[in-house]
Amino acid sequence: MLINQNTILLDTHKALRTKCEPVILPLSEEDRSILESMISYVRDSHDEEKRKTQGLRAAVGIAAPQIGITKQMIAISIEGGKGEKDLEYALVNPKIISNSVQLAYLEGGESCLSVVPDREGYVPRYARITVKGYDLLTDREVTLRLRHYPAIVFQHEIDHLSGTLYYDHIDKQNPYKPLPEDAVCLG
Ligand code: NI
Repeated sequence: MLINQNTILLDTHKALRTKCEPVILPLSEEDRSILESMISYVRDSHDEEKRKTQGLRAAVGIAAPQIGITKQMIAISIEGGKGEKDLEYALVNPKIISNSVQLAYLEGGESCLSVVPDREGYVPRYARITVKGYDLLTDREVTLRLRHYPAIVFQHEIDHLSGTLYYDHIDKQNPYKPLPEDAVCLG
């Protein structure tokens, strides 16, 4: 399946507001191949040359409804720093099973392949979450404890599976309304 800037749906499409169906395990060949295309997109989008030649927009994650498939599948690839490996998961039926009370947010706000142009404002997220799901890359059930930036990315992608977009969380009256004092601000 070809995924690029032209095939990714925008938030005007009803797939982006649909509650996605759980995926039946073991994975069918079709679902496996869709999820493989999704993780490839995110990986390839980190490469400047591929972005130019294949028409990709840089991303750290993508959810199946963004390509018109209303099933519970997300792919995430966050580049590690020097000497650190990338954080990569292609998850089926991901669920947040616990979260911190403490919040975290990105100072510059969030962005999404399906939202053009970006919407400004703080998006409150949990600072720490535990996610369960089936990971295609290792072919097993995983339980992930995530904090700060990765926790935000996973919450953004998992939100897509219930038809929620990041700007739904931005305060309408005051997009830069201060968060609680103990919230973690990530630059
Ligand atoms: Ni998004």
